[in-house]
Amino acid sequence: MRDVLPEAARRWRVVEDTLRRVLAGFAYEEVHLPLLEFTELFSRGVGEATDIVAKEMYSLEDRDGTGITLRPEGTAGCARALQQAGLLFNQTQRVFYTGPMFRYERPQKGRYRQFAQIGAEVFGLAGPDVDAELLALSWNFWQALGIESQVTLELNTLGSAQCRADYRRALVDYLTPQAKALDEDSQRRLTSNPLRILDSKSAQTREILVNAPSLPDYIDTASRDHFARLCELLEQLGIGWTHNPQLVRGLDYYTHTVFEWVTAALGAQGTICAGGRYDGLVELIGGKPTPGAGFALGLERVILLTENHGYLAEQDFSTASDVYCCVLNAADQGWAMSVAANLRQAQPNLRVRVHAGGGKLKNQLRRADLCGASWALIMGEDEVANNQVTVKSLRDATAQRTVAISALAELLK
Ligand code: HAM
Repeated sequence: MRDVLPEAARRWRVVEDTLRRVLAGFAYEEVHLPLLEFTELFSRGVGEATDIVAKEMYSLEDRDGTGITLRPEGTAGCARALQQAGLLFNQTQRVFYTGPMFRYERPQKGRYRQFAQIGAEVFGLAGPDVDAELLALSWNFWQALGIESQVTLELNTLGSAQCRADYRRALVDYLTPQAKALDEDSQRRLTSNPLRILDSKSAQTREILVNAPSLPDYIDTASRDHFARLCELLEQLGIGWTHNPQLVRGLDYYTHTVFEWVTAALGAQGTICAGGRYDGLVELIGGKPTPGAGFALGLERVILLTENHGYLAEQDFSTASDVYCCVLNAADQGWAMSVAANLRQAQPNLRVRVHAGGGKLKNQLRRADLCGASWALIMGEDEVANNQVTVKSLRDATAQRTVAISALAELLK
């Protein structure tokens, strides 16, 4: 679990604001959801046999003995909230959420036990047009950050719940006689979550998988049509993708479309965003059958990518303020604070800090330098008496000028 300190938090804010602007442009509505949910929501929704539920949840007992869990993901809670509020019946919803998720995973660069997601979810629409919209939305994220050349889209279809069940049976029938030759994880998954074996990195398991039944052979016509229409729309939108028939995702709720945005620039934790369709989820957690689709991006991973790529790579996040007011006499502190207040109002983008704690001008200028300010406003006896300030550049020692307070905002613009 990481602390986000000021410089990192500044970059974080800019990335998040950029993504929020894109979401607003697609008219998605924000929801705020609890960090704690009943454990049962995830065991039912995400799936008892998934790694997330079986091995990674932070679960505890509430004081009355109820099982509660720090959310490991946002989709189940989002579906629960909208369903409980009666917002899913005969309606469509397009929402997003941001905030921390918790998984007990082995930490490494880009993988943390507390991490932040921005998730977008659509309910009540079953067509491939919505899948395409979600992919266009995420594509616009990368464009807005200028990192689109760093990411590629991997796409697959799992078909309907029935296709998936049929395929699962065929895969288990094929693998069971050779179970002893599979790696340890895959042997365990054979009874709990066999589709995840397709993700195995073990060379020996991969060799066995070469002749395994293939998922595309089990996809029914309606699911194929859904996928074909999605591909057509992506083409029209100019969004490139590759078909990865091995992509099954680690959560049980998916049906039909699944996808991941991956990058080669982050090493092992290269999936920056992932999602798909989950038409069975709402019913699974106690609601009426309601189609759904969505995705979530890992904010830390996206932020890491912006450090070396895109529009924010060269931007300076090291400074805490633009303007530093040096107050030479304690008696003028109130005057200085009002000048700063007026300046903030006139130039809302300026970050204005007023020196506190007294002391010599030299020390105040040193503080100004330390917080990265470009300008010091010197407020001494003469300045205050004449309703003026001396504006001193901290980048160019020769640039200094005394101006009337009324001209200050314009000068600093
Ligand atoms: P997920 O693939 O488990 O899907 O997570 C989505 C994204 O969150 C990942 O692609 C990754 O960028 C980020 N992420 C996951 N685990 C970690 C971690 N330990 N540290 C840092 N980042 C991480 C979901 O959570 C689904 N709820 C997505 C979804 C929404 N599907 C439909 N709607």
